[in-house]
Amino acid sequence: MKKIFVTGGAGFIGSAFIRLVLEETPDIEIINYDALTYAGNLENLQGLDATRHRFVKGDICDKETVLRNLPEETEAIFNFAAESHVDRSISSASEFVTTNVLGTQILLDAARAKNVVRFVQISTDEVMGSLPEDDAAVFNESSPLKPNSPYAASKAAAEHFVRAARETFGTDTVITRCGNNYGQRQFPEKLIPLMIANALNDESLPVYGDGRNVRDWIFVEDHARAVWLAYAKGKAGGIYNIGAKNERRNIEVVKAILDALGKPHSLIKFVADRPGHDRRYAIDAALAGNELGWKPQTRWEEGLRKTVNWYRENQDWVNRIRNGAYRDYYREMYGAGLKSL
Ligand code: NAD
Ligand code: TYD
Repeated sequence: MKKIFVTGGAGFIGSAFIRLVLEETPDIEIINYDALTYAGNLENLQGLDATRHRFVKGDICDKETVLRNLPEETEAIFNFAAESHVDRSISSASEFVTTNVLGTQILLDAARAKNVVRFVQISTDEVMGSLPEDDAAVFNESSPLKPNSPYAASKAAAEHFVRAARETFGTDTVITRCGNNYGQRQFPEKLIPLMIANALNDESLPVYGDGRNVRDWIFVEDHARAVWLAYAKGKAGGIYNIGAKNERRNIEVVKAILDALGKPHSLIKFVADRPGHDRRYAIDAALAGNELGWKPQTRWEEGLRKTVNWYRENQDWVNRIRNGAYRDYYREMYGAGLKSL
């Protein structure tokens, strides 16, 4: 059995990745290292094969605990752990610097100390900033890093430390930069699960600004597969953009959710814009296609239907989150005007 060390595996994408690896790769054993912040949820790990998956509660910024739990000559570290929400980074950036930058460096040091074979950093297209609206421009691997939000800045900084480990110490690194993910088990503060959850409760759907911002959406399982292929087939020092050629304006996404649930468009409420709101993301994933043999398998209509159905069938999952730590933040963000809170 080969051992891999996955950080942030109790979150949205990390848990989808673990599920995929356990299902498709029989000779892999996973150590899932996660601090269980507000976004980490052990319910996301229900039903996993316990003989090949071991959960460890730990912070990536805690060097001793990382070193104690990281086996010598682990095949790979997959660093999914992060503070991941742009709006939170605007309210308070320091946790983003701590986890996303310092935490990544601590993992890089640990990788070197324990002779880890490969370090895979899960990054984001947001490190490359914003593209003009109604334009053919897309992000590729040579686009300059121009992060605009504190979240994006922290992920870009992490990428620099990954690069520095490679250049300075010869660490075998791979970076993936993916667009906006959607799918089951996404924390309901991000656009798609928030809108589904609100619509199911007949609450208003807060759309920032004019709603014309564009995101390039990808189904979470397609991203998870791309990360695995980047590990298995990526070049040392490689950077791979991951996207499904699925640009959508926010307002179009929100209307599609309301239509899927049979709810009226009158639930949409335009609210103040996000400061520094990136206008458009669009990804050229040709390199991942050519070098990794990756291509997305889930069409938007199918992925959105699966996602909406999952949230409809798992309203208790959302309600448990909303009734817990998330409630105060949600009130602060959207005021008390939302019925179920
Ligand atoms: P998430 O917020 O759902 O999950 C993050 C997980 O990391 C949680 O389980 C949390 O408990 C854990 N975590 C946070 N701080 C930690 C720490 N200090 N030590 C250990 N664990 C910690 O995030 P996600 O949406 O699953 O994103 C996973 C990764 O993918 C992140 O690195 C993010 O930047 C990147 N990414 C996300 C998207 C997206 O659309 N969600 C797109 C591209 C890249
Ligand atoms: P989000 O899911 O926070 O992801 P990111 O900021 O990383 O792209 O937001 C996706 C888009 O949806 C972004 O343009 C901001 C917008 N948005 C809203 O209009 N209303 C909301 O309540 C949220 C959370 C996001």
